[in-house]
Amino acid sequence: MESPFKEDILKGKVALLTGGGSGIGFEISKQFGKHGASVAIMGRRKQVLDSAVSTLRSFSIPAVGFEGDVRKQEDARRVVESTFKHFGRLDILVNAAAGNFLVASEDLSPNGFRTVMDIDSVGTFTMCHEALEYLKQGGPGRGSSSGGTILNISATLHYTAAWYQIHVSAAKAAVDAITRNLALEWGTDYDIRVNGIAPGPIGDTAGMSKLAPEEINSKAKDQMPLYKLGEKWDIAMAAVYLVSDAGKYINGTTVPVDGGLWLSRPRH
Ligand code: HXC
Repeated sequence: MESPFKEDILKGKVALLTGGGSGIGFEISKQFGKHGASVAIMGRRKQVLDSAVSTLRSFSIPAVGFEGDVRKQEDARRVVESTFKHFGRLDILVNAAAGNFLVASEDLSPNGFRTVMDIDSVGTFTMCHEALEYLKQGGPGRGSSSGGTILNISATLHYTAAWYQIHVSAAKAAVDAITRNLALEWGTDYDIRVNGIAPGPIGDTAGMSKLAPEEINSKAKDQMPLYKLGEKWDIAMAAVYLVSDAGKYINGTTVPVDGGLWLSRPRH
């Protein structure tokens, strides 16, 4: 689908995306690139990164991949620094790396709970922490008037409660708290805007194939106000809006992009 935004809306910006090699993260990488940004993607799997980078380059998007695990602070530091060295600045950080699986709480080991907290929540904070120096006023030693922006990919699970996803619900609740607190502190001190997107069920993603077997999927559709799954494109367009100057007064908000699903109730 064509983008409704001007193709130079992110011209000159440099974005780093964790989990940017696949799923929603990749679509955001692609759309940022198509709107003028240079894109660095971070992920654990070299093959996924290589293939994503070559696809991005096939659209003439300046792109580079860095292997790393957001659970390791040294990886976070190295990737942020490499991005800055490669492109000469860092304007946008997107935390899209996530871990997930369906499991009943009684069967989930504390280590399984911790693993998802480590990836989603601690990983998000670690990336923000390591990127701060570079996001401030366009990077160390630079004098531009405004700082960069951070976008955290969240979920709507914790707005109510979600079956078999206690670990992800807790992790994404923490992500939303990180979004608000950094927005307050870094928005005030450095003019860095921090926002989030909470995707609903998005077709053709690892999240959907792992979490929603086909029968749940078709039953869920009956209760969705828009009667359809979202597309990765929907999330990417919200991302372009939030990180661009169009979103310059939006700070500390997590935007649900779910067609209103989390609000919906069966008709009676
Ligand atoms: C129960 C599980 C489990 C499962 C892992 N564990 N998978 N427990 N059911 N299916 C437990 C393990 O038993 C172990 O605890 C602990 O978790 C760590 O497991 P490892 O396999 O060692 O972890 P690791 O190799 O680091 O893998 C991390 C992962 C994996 C999260 C488990 O699935 C992953 O990396 N996934 C990333 C890709 C992904 O899932 N993307 C989709 C995101 S979708 P013990 O106690 O045995 O040591 C998404 C959407 C959210 O986020 C919102 C949807 C609406």
